[in-house]
Amino acid sequence: MNVLLGVSGSISAYKAVDILRAFQRQGNDVSVVLTRNACRFVQPLTFDTFVPGRVHTQWFEDADDPLLHIHLGREHDLFLIAPASAATIARMACGMAEDLLTATYLAFPGRVVIAPAMNEVMYAHPAVTHNLLTLRERGVEMIQPEKGELACGNQGTGRLPEAQHIVEYCLGVVRV
Ligand SMILES: Cc1cc2nc3c(=O)[nH]c(=O)nc-3n(C[C@H](O)[C@H](O)[C@H](O)COP(=O)(O)O)c2cc1C
Repeated sequence: MNVLLGVSGSISAYKAVDILRAFQRQGNDVSVVLTRNACRFVQPLTFDTFVPGRVHTQWFEDADDPLLHIHLGREHDLFLIAPASAATIARMACGMAEDLLTATYLAFPGRVVIAPAMNEVMYAHPAVTHNLLTLRERGVEMIQPEKGELACGNQGTGRLPEAQHIVEYCLGVVRV
């Protein structure tokens, strides 16, 4: 399977590298799209080491392919956004295609899975709940965040699940 891994600006963005590796171990091809803020948390070079030339952070600046958001949609079977930040979820729910990740989401004809990850108070906010419901009604699959210790030190629901769990969930989605 050709998997497009979208990474947004959550403290758990570093875990996306494990997700990429877990997909590869199961024989899948992976490309990566990072938001500008995701690049503050984890270096594109880390992903590029495992999938050379298949890591995208630029859009307007990408002289090689100005229609990258369309072509990524054609070339991949599944779009997993993990971690999905509250801001990225909001842009997706509003159809705001203002960066490469969200434009690719709108142009993506295949299955889309999101794995929200954030502080438990953010996750419980009605705006986030509403946006997630909107996305689920539109057919986006959601991997529930786990309960446990969060980066801020609080206990609560908002943790990104382990890479293997996320990959198995995605493989299950494409089997149905
Ligand atoms: C240290 C730090 C950790 C953050 N962790 C999260 C997080 O886990 N989840 C989240 O939704 N936002 C988190 N944020 C806020 C996002 O980075 C911010 O909303 C950003 O605009 C998201 O951009 P993006 O969705 O375009 O990647 C964090 C911000 C900082 C400074």
